[in-house]
Amino acid sequence: GMVRHYKFNVVEKRTDRLCSSKPIVTVNGRFPGPTIYAREDDTVFVKVVNHVSYNVTIHWHGVRQLRTCWADGPAYITQCPIQPGQVYTYNFTITGQRGTLLWHAHILWLRATVHGALVILPKRGVPYPFPKPHKEKVIVLAEWWKSDVEAVIGEAIKSGGVPNVSDAHTINSHPGPVADCPKGGYELAVRPGKTYMLRIINAALNEELFFKIARHQLTVVEVDAAYVKPLRTDTILVGPGQTTTALLTAYHTTGKYLMTVSPFMDAPVSVDNVTATATVRYAGTPAASPAVPIAPPSPNATWVAEGFVGSLRSLNTGAYPARVPLEIDHSLFFTVGIGVNPCATCTSGFRVVADFNNISFVMPKTALLSAHYYKMTGVFTDDFPAKPMIRFNYTGAQPVNLNTMTGTRLYRLPYNSTVQLVLQDTGMVAPENHPIHLHGFNFFAVGRGIGNFDPITDPRKFNLVDPVERNTIGVPSGGWAAIRFRADNPGVWFMHCHLEVHTTWGLKMAFVVDDGEGPDQSLLPPPSDLPKC
Ligand code: C2O
Repeated sequence: GMVRHYKFNVVEKRTDRLCSSKPIVTVNGRFPGPTIYAREDDTVFVKVVNHVSYNVTIHWHGVRQLRTCWADGPAYITQCPIQPGQVYTYNFTITGQRGTLLWHAHILWLRATVHGALVILPKRGVPYPFPKPHKEKVIVLAEWWKSDVEAVIGEAIKSGGVPNVSDAHTINSHPGPVADCPKGGYELAVRPGKTYMLRIINAALNEELFFKIARHQLTVVEVDAAYVKPLRTDTILVGPGQTTTALLTAYHTTGKYLMTVSPFMDAPVSVDNVTATATVRYAGTPAASPAVPIAPPSPNATWVAEGFVGSLRSLNTGAYPARVPLEIDHSLFFTVGIGVNPCATCTSGFRVVADFNNISFVMPKTALLSAHYYKMTGVFTDDFPAKPMIRFNYTGAQPVNLNTMTGTRLYRLPYNSTVQLVLQDTGMVAPENHPIHLHGFNFFAVGRGIGNFDPITDPRKFNLVDPVERNTIGVPSGGWAAIRFRADNPGVWFMHCHLEVHTTWGLKMAFVVDDGEGPDQSLLPPPSDLPKC
């Protein structure tokens, strides 16, 4: 592979949206930030220079980082933050992956504006497993707050309650025309008969999003940088941290068509109904002509969401076969829960908390990866439970005990051991899926269901032949998802809900994967410029 160098200057930039302006933290002054292009097997260097007053880190979401956990990026998990005025160069090689991913800040809520696309092209001379598109377009979906994002979450932490939702969603940085700010929006220019590859990225903090284009079908060909059997659909659901590459054929001759992005949060509380819009405009169609409208999915959004996820079960088994672990060494069952704890310092007297297996994760003061590598004691324990700490029946009455315990507990895995993890949502508060993201691995999504996971009957229905491969999976509200992976990547790997508010509340933990005995089975030594806490 080739070596590619990028430079990320983290700078503040006053930016106008929704007819008002505010300073935001950006990479190179851009929102979204620059796209990183690399081919499979390339080595990437990104020199990050912090010019702002916040601590910063950057995460290469979905990049496997084989033996290079030091370059993964989550603050206090794999590195101490890059402090104001400091520099850190991320260095990693892309191995066995091709498709669309994203990069984003992995500290505080900075990823609201510090994010961008990471496009991995196939090795030179290797074609896509579908007809070559006429053009490729990156479509980044995000959220916009009129107020300062760090202040929004800061307030919520003080009160113990729920932070404000964003004021708009965005498509390639723009909400599109809205009532009190009727101008602007992203436009995709197309020519009749041509096919466009849309690399759709959900970089939003807190919303799963539906993506649609009026009077056009989309063909999904890849998710989370893994090819899938082509799937034709008119609606795509993409959770925060997830990516979906779809082909759009411009099969009309003329006209302008609306593209919509709307949140999946339909019941029981409708929190946020802001739909972002953009347009697809055929060559020769006047810019001022009205766009053909389309209604975003709404009344039956859950069914639309389930239908889309349900239809996306299979990998392309030809050129990229699934290698699902069939023998399981570690069979884990994690509940995904939200509860409340008493809080003396909170203005409301309580604090909303979230947890895996009733343990709300406490961030350490130094990086877990360094603690693991240098065998420091007192930073974490490796006693994360394989099943929930508090037993209850998820289909019965809601549990009386919503309290969670706190701790910096990790689950230890020997090198190359195999893992089955069932994630069971306890469905107590939120109506939406939890997009659970595992760093450092692609896992196989072998099963998914509504209600209680049944340890006897459900595993019989697992797809162990050609399941979809992902790095982020939506655990359905009041339901479960089962994943399998092989622990073939030494290091400390974060796992968390990619709804940022849930991460803040403690819905996170980490796996520590020990070195193997073989020559290429150990974590590489830390880079010399690794930041210190
Ligand atoms: Cu995309 Cu730990 O995050």
